[in-house]
Amino acid sequence: MQSSFQHDVLIIGSGAAGLSVALSLAKHVNVAVLSKGALPSGSTLYAQGGIAAVLGDTGGDADTLESHIQDTLIAGAGLCHQDAVEFTVEHGKESIEWLISQGVDFTREDSSTYHLTKEGGHSHRRIIHAADATGHEVSSSLCDQAIAADNIEIFENRVAIDLITHKKLFLPGNRCVGAYVLNDKTSEVELFRARFVVIATGGASKAYLYTSNPDGASGDGIAMAWRSGCRVANMEFNQFHPTCLYHPLAKSFLVTEAVRGEGGRLLLPDGQRFMHRFDKREELAPRDVVARAIDHEMKRLGADNLFLDISHKPAEFVKQHFPTIYERCLEFGIDITKQPIPVVPAAHYTCGGVVTDHRGRSDVNQLYVVGEAAFTGLHGANRMASNSLLECLVYGRSAAQDIMNKFEDIPLPPEAPLWDASQVTDSDEDVVISHNWDELRRFMWDYVGIVRTNKRLQRAKHRIDVLHQEIVDFYSNYKVTNDLLELRNLMTIADLIICSAIQRKESRGLHYTLDYPEQLPVAKDTILTPTNFSARDW
Ligand code: FAD
Ligand code: SIN
Repeated sequence: MQSSFQHDVLIIGSGAAGLSVALSLAKHVNVAVLSKGALPSGSTLYAQGGIAAVLGDTGGDADTLESHIQDTLIAGAGLCHQDAVEFTVEHGKESIEWLISQGVDFTREDSSTYHLTKEGGHSHRRIIHAADATGHEVSSSLCDQAIAADNIEIFENRVAIDLITHKKLFLPGNRCVGAYVLNDKTSEVELFRARFVVIATGGASKAYLYTSNPDGASGDGIAMAWRSGCRVANMEFNQFHPTCLYHPLAKSFLVTEAVRGEGGRLLLPDGQRFMHRFDKREELAPRDVVARAIDHEMKRLGADNLFLDISHKPAEFVKQHFPTIYERCLEFGIDITKQPIPVVPAAHYTCGGVVTDHRGRSDVNQLYVVGEAAFTGLHGANRMASNSLLECLVYGRSAAQDIMNKFEDIPLPPEAPLWDASQVTDSDEDVVISHNWDELRRFMWDYVGIVRTNKRLQRAKHRIDVLHQEIVDFYSNYKVTNDLLELRNLMTIADLIICSAIQRKESRGLHYTLDYPEQLPVAKDTILTPTNFSARDW
C-alpha cells in the first residue's frame, strides 16, 4: 500500500530558504518539509563566511544601502536586475533581525555590537557571521524552531522525483498540486498533495567534478521545475569559489573568502604574491576575477594548486576567527597559523535558476521557487559573496507572505494517481549510473569550466546528447533510486548550462570564453523556455 499525504503547503528542501518559508507561514497552516537526507542538510549547513546586510546601528563603518546595492551591481557585471538588488538589500536588516529572533547567535564585537567581516567585492565590513561556521549556526537554530513548531511536519530521507501539475492530470489550467517522492529508507514512492508547493532544493554545483557543495546539490528542483513547464535563466553563470582546500582526502572543503577579508594573501608555489597583476583590488576582487587569476597561474606554471596564507597574523587571531578551518586543516597536517594553505578553485554556486518574481512565484500557478534554485535577478553574471543566504531569507519570507495573502482563495488539490511502478524492474547494472555520473561531471569540468571555447562547448553538447538517451532509457526501465534521480537531474542541468553558455556570445562575469573575450554593450539574460511552457495567470 503506497503512502499518500495532503498538506496546505509542501516545501521541498530544508535549507535556509525552505525553513524561512516554513517558519514564516501562519501557525494555522499545516506544512510538510521534505529533506533528501537528515533535516539539517544542503549547502546552508556548510556556509562559512556569513550574511551580507547593512545593519546600521548594530555595528560597522559608514555603510549604506546604496553602497551594498552598488557593490552588488558591480560584481554582477551589468546583468543584475536593479529592482531585485534593491528589494533584497532593503530587506537585509529585518531578515537578520528575524534570524536573531529565531535564536541565531552571531559573533559579537562586544556586548552591544556584532563583529562584521569583509569579503570580495564589498566596499565595507558588512558580513555578519558566527565565527567561520555561520551556516551551522543558522541551520541549527532554524531546524530547532521547525522541530518545535506544531504545524510543521518533517519528512527526512525523502527525494522529490517530479511535480504533479494540472497538465499532467489532464485538468484545465496551469497549477502545481504536489509531487511524487521517493522514500529513500523504504524505496517506496509516496504521493504528496498540497495547495501550494515550494521548491527550495538549492543549487546544482555537483554538475562539476570539483565542488565546494555537499552531496545532493544536483539541481533537482531546477530540473523538476523545467520539466513541469517553468522557464530557467542564466544557467551559464556557475560560480567557482577561488579557494577550496587542496588535499587528496579533503572532499569539498571550503576556505572562506573571509580569510582574504581579514588579510589572507594568495601565493604562487614560490611564495610570490600575484593578484596585483590581475586586479587593483588584489585578493578582494570579485570571485570571478580571483578564480580566473588562480586558474591562469596554475595553467601557466603547470601547478596542481596555489596557496592562501594567513600565517602572518597572530596565531590567536587566526584561531579565534577561523576555528573550523584551523581544526580541519590540522587534521591534514596543515597548521594555518604557521604555513600557507594549498588551494584550488571549485564549483560553488548556481547563479541562474528558475525564473521567479519578488514573491518567489514561478511560471506555474501555486509553485514557488526560493533560494539557490531560483533566478531572481539579484546576482547577475556573478554573485557577490554572502548575498545568497540573504536572498534565501528575503525571498523565503516574501513567498510565505504571498502564500498567506492567497491562502483562502486556493482550493484543496485534486485527487492524483499513485506512482505506477508496474512496468519497471530492479536495475542489474548500477555501474551505468556511476560511470555516467563520473563522465558527466568530468566533461563539465573540462569543457564548461572557468575558461570556455566554442569547440569545448560543442564537445560537451555532443556528450550530453549521447548520455541523454542512455539515462532516459535507464529511467524508463528500472526502479528509481536516489543516484538515478540525481543523475537524471544532473543531465538536465548540464544540458541547460551548456545550451545557455552556447547562446552567450560574449565574456561577462563568470562566463569567460576565448572565442568572445569582449563584453557586449547591452547586457541580456539567457532565458530558456521549455516546450510545455504557458504563461502564468496568477
Ligand atoms: P540548501 O541549503 O542547499 O538546501 C537544499 C535542501 O533541499 C536540502 O535540505 C536538501 O536535502 C533538499 N533537497 C534537494 N533536492 C531535494 C529533493 N529532490 N527532494 C527533497 N529534498 C531535496 N552563502 C552565503 O551567503 N554566505 C556564506 O558564507 C556561504 N558560504 C558557503 C559555503 C559553502 C561550503 C557552500 C557550499 C555554500 C556557501 N554559500 C554561502 C552559499 C549558500 O550556502 C547557499 O546558496 C544557500 O545555503 C542555499 O540555501 P538553499 O536553502 O537554497 O539550499
Ligand atoms: C565564503 O565564505 O567564502 C563563501 C561565501 C559565499 O559563498 O557567499
